[in-house]
Amino acid sequence: GGAERNADLKALIRTIPDFPKPGIQFRDITTLLLDPGGFATVVERMAAMVDGPIDAIAGVEARGFIFGAALARELGSGLVLVRKRGKLPGKTLTEDYALEYGSDSLEMHHDAIPQGARILLIDDLLATGGTAHAAVRLLRGAGASVGQSLFVIDLPDLGGAARLREAGVSVEALVEFE
Ligand code: PRP
Ligand code: ADE
Repeated sequence: GGAERNADLKALIRTIPDFPKPGIQFRDITTLLLDPGGFATVVERMAAMVDGPIDAIAGVEARGFIFGAALARELGSGLVLVRKRGKLPGKTLTEDYALEYGSDSLEMHHDAIPQGARILLIDDLLATGGTAHAAVRLLRGAGASVGQSLFVIDLPDLGGAARLREAGVSVEALVEFE
């Protein structure tokens, strides 16, 4: 819920048609980030949505790092980096996935989290859920318990929230776009 409550934030997100491919309505958070009050408000409202104790936040490269890092700082928790293939220096776990406009691979360090750690997953946007679901597989493969995910934006028509909930992860977003 909260779509009306967050109308102030929705108004700060710019839409660019046909990026990166024809037919995609790109929801651009750069305008939200440029607004100092807007960014602070996002972090405050996400912090208020955190459900129960967590051991660390996982943020997904690249836009998920922005909100994940800010939220980790706000909550005083650690931050796990879920990165695109080939960026992490240590031994990694890898998951391939499809997204709204392509495909890619995510990696995390195999020893990034203690067994059973309660991880909150953060990204800027949920579309098909391919990215977030791959992040959940990675985190669980590394021994984490992933019960909640938070996004700035959800595109509910693309089914990502339903897919994550089927995987046993709760899903909330500040703003929805059709
Ligand atoms: C975008 C966005 C999410 C993902 C959502 O990332 O930041 O991570 O797509 O799409 P999905 O739900 O269909 O998987 P992108 O891969 O474009 O990378 P970026 O953050 O590096 O810009
Ligand atoms: N990631 C996947 N789909 C997207 C969209 N429509 N806008 C911005 N980022 C996205």
